[in-house]
Amino acid sequence: MFNRIYAVQSKLLEKIAERKGESTDRDWPLDWERIHMISCAKVGQYLAARRGVNTELAAIACAVHDYGRILSGKQKNHAVLGYEPVKEFLISCGYFSEAEIEIVAQAAKLHSNKSEVGSPLEEVVKDADVLDCFEYGIDPERPEQRSRLENIMAELKSM
Ligand SMILES: [Fe+2]
Repeated sequence: MFNRIYAVQSKLLEKIAERKGESTDRDWPLDWERIHMISCAKVGQYLAARRGVNTELAAIACAVHDYGRILSGKQKNHAVLGYEPVKEFLISCGYFSEAEIEIVAQAAKLHSNKSEVGSPLEEVVKDADVLDCFEYGIDPERPEQRSRLENIMAELKSM
């Protein structure tokens, strides 16, 4: 069986494992990168299904959205700084079209712009990110994250 979500997550787990032992003082522990990468993808997959968005690409975009931070260890500007590395990573996977790579990398690049409304796929990534963090006890700090969380909670209640 071949599944692109599984394959991407396996490769990401390898990339995360490669960071072990480096001297960088990380803003978030590697275990969080592993857990959040997988659970955010699952949250995103279900949100996408509910919203009529491509569930596979949504899960993959959620899986790679923090790749910039996985590489650098730093929160600051990790979304924008992750754009090129996400593209390189997806190219190296060898099973994505150019169009898919651009869509996914774009969603990763823009995921920190929580006050702006982007494409449906980008919105899934932002919402899954906020919800997954919240479910692990990371409360939304910024007002735009809080209002996003309120909207998602309302959406989930109506399911
Ligand atoms: Fe995230």
